[in-house]
This record gives sequence, structure tokens and C-alpha cells, in this order.
Amino acid sequence: MANDYQLIFGNFDEEALAKSWDWLNDIEIKYFTNTSDFDRVSQREWFEVLAARDDYYIKTMLVHNTLVGVCGIKNITDTEGEAWLYVGEKLLWGKSIGTQCLKYLISYARQIDLKSLYALILKDNTRSLNLFKKFDFIFESELENDIVKVRLGF
Ligand SMILES: CC(C)(COP(=O)(O)OP(=O)(O)OC[C@H]1O[C@@H](n2cnc3c(N)ncnc32)[C@H](O)[C@@H]1OP(=O)(O)O)[C@@H](O)C(=O)NCCC(=O)NCCS
Repeated sequence: MANDYQLIFGNFDEEALAKSWDWLNDIEIKYFTNTSDFDRVSQREWFEVLAARDDYYIKTMLVHNTLVGVCGIKNITDTEGEAWLYVGEKLLWGKSIGTQCLKYLISYARQIDLKSLYALILKDNTRSLNLFKKFDFIFESELENDIVKVRLGF
């Protein structure tokens, strides 16, 4: 059956920068993504140096040509990276977008020869915990501030 929410991935551009400002200032998304306070200037500075970074991979998620979220891998080393994602359009939560995205990030991590991917997830983020569990990420440790670390080795 065709997926109504078929995801494609794009580059993180000015439009995505503006959208992500709104999304990451949404109280619920800000909470679940554990995002620190930021302002327009710090966001712009972060954006300007993105292209030059080799420890940071970032992509936009689009459904029917509309931006719906952002994802990537950060803290990339020779062996590992931290997968992260958020579907900014909350009406689209639970519609398989996260599943398609994580599959893509795992495939990219393998492509660049990482040995594992990990994620830091708030204990009460059931949806995210279920998503990572679905791809066989396993519990690694509990960190401060009610965060758990899960990992998938390749
Ligand atoms: C977490 C998030 C990325 C998941 O993406 P999504 O598109 O909503 O998730 P999916 O529809 O692909 O569902 C993935 C799995 O989550 C679980 N899930 C879905 N809806 C759920 C719900 N209402 N309650 C609990 N678990 C749920 C299921 O196990 C599902 O897999 P299944 O449908 O095969 O059973 C998304 O909800 C989101 O952006 N949340 C806010 C930001 C965030 O938490 N980011 C992650 C930070 S670590």
C-alpha cells in the first residue's frame, strides 16, 4: 500500500532555518528535543558554519514538497554519532515519518562507516523510545536529567 506520508530529504536551507525557529520554540518539541534556550543571533551563527563542519550531518524532511521536520547525526567521530530528529508538524506525529527518517539515518551512518549510532532520549518520551527500540537500539546507560542513552551497533 502506498504511504501517504512518503518522506524525502533535503538540504537545510534558509526556509528550514525559519521553520526550525518556530518548531524548536514550541514548548513540547523544545522539551522532547532537550533544546537549550537560543536566540536569533546564536541560531544564525550556528547556521553559517554548518557547511564547514564534518562532525555534523543535517537534513530536512519533506512530505509532498512541504517541510515537516529536521534530522541528522551530530558529534560524529571515526566510529560513532548521535542520531537526532524531530517532526516539527505535530499533526503528523505517529504517521511513520520518524520510522522512515531513522531508517535513513542508520543507512547513512553505515555508508560513512560508523560502527554505531546512539541517541539521548528523555525517559518520558515514549514515542521516541519506541521508535528507537523498533530499530533494535538497546539501553546503554542512564544519564542525569532523566535521559537514557540507547545504541545500535553495526
Ligand atoms: C519522536 C518522533 C520523531 C517519532 O516520529 P513519528 O513519526 O511520530 O513516529 P512513527 O509514526 O514513525 O512511529 C514510530 C514508533 O513510535 C511508536 N509510537 C507511535 N505513536 C505512538 C504513541 N502515540 N505513543 C507511543 N508510541 C508511539 C510506535 O512504536 C511506532 O512504531 P509502529 O507504528 O511501527 O508501532 C516524533 O514523534 C517527534 O518528532 N516527536 C517530538 C520530538 C522528539 O521527541 N524527538 C526525538 C528526540 S529523542
